[in-house]
Amino acid sequence: MSIAVIGSNMVDLISYITRMPEEGETIEAPDFRLGCGGKGANQAIVAARLGSEVVMVTRVGDDLFAENTIRNFAENGIDTTHVLRTEGSSGVAPIFVDQQSHNSIIIVKGANNQLSADDIEAAADRIKECKLIVLQLEIPLETVYAAVAFGKEHGIPVLLNPAPAAPDLVLDRVKSCDFIVPNETELSLLTGMPVESEDDIRNAAAVLLNVGIKNVIVTLGSRGVYWTDGEREEFFAATKVQARDTTGAGDAFIGCFSHVWVKTGDIAKSLEAAGLYAGDSVTRLGTQTSYANAQEFKAKYPEVDL
Ligand code: RIB
Repeated sequence: MSIAVIGSNMVDLISYITRMPEEGETIEAPDFRLGCGGKGANQAIVAARLGSEVVMVTRVGDDLFAENTIRNFAENGIDTTHVLRTEGSSGVAPIFVDQQSHNSIIIVKGANNQLSADDIEAAADRIKECKLIVLQLEIPLETVYAAVAFGKEHGIPVLLNPAPAAPDLVLDRVKSCDFIVPNETELSLLTGMPVESEDDIRNAAAVLLNVGIKNVIVTLGSRGVYWTDGEREEFFAATKVQARDTTGAGDAFIGCFSHVWVKTGDIAKSLEAAGLYAGDSVTRLGTQTSYANAQEFKAKYPEVDL
């Protein structure tokens, strides 16, 4: 049972800083990590590390990063048949993490900007074998819409993570999604509504349900997760952890949710597992370097059904 991730890959350049520099100022950062990232790739890596078969549909550049990204997918057991090459730069993401573990991310989409609807068609036979299509917004919106339409045409459930927030996302063109998974900021941007209180979140989520999306899952960081399908709803509390680096925690959540949901079809179980998995990831530095494999996660949370 496999998962298709149609999305981005980036090279993360993470500087651990004590503060942001002022304009014209040079400051020293105590630590730095270079690693594989990109929301699509991160979600794919998590699902693969937990045991899913994953096919990645993405584009890398023709620079020194490209080979490493492809090797990283392959080493994690991901099908790289549809990792395509493009002239120019691969995606890169300079990231700054402060001492409170808050991050600021700049993305340079590079080759990700060239991923097209034709690339989805070229991978059609493989994607049709999948039980879930997972999407984010670091590729052109037209490609996202094409992937949503592909899922609908072939009866494959689609999960959309509307990140990073894109004000020009047309909700009507993603209304056939089975899951939309925004964080609070993205929810507010998508709906134009406040998201301060539980009632605010409920009301904003209702806007997405009214468009036609089947399930709305709102990640609320240390406040947990809200889920509704219009008939039922639940707030899931987050486990308390000592956060060191929250970069990629949302991707950890989505990768784990996708893996457990494809395996069990049980949304509550999948949300609980994803919350624990994302919580575990923030206790380690880096993006993909912070993601546990199935064995490591099981050792910490033996009650989770992977
Ligand atoms: O969600 C975290 C990811 O956002 C990073 O890996 C970075 O590459 C950006 O895509």
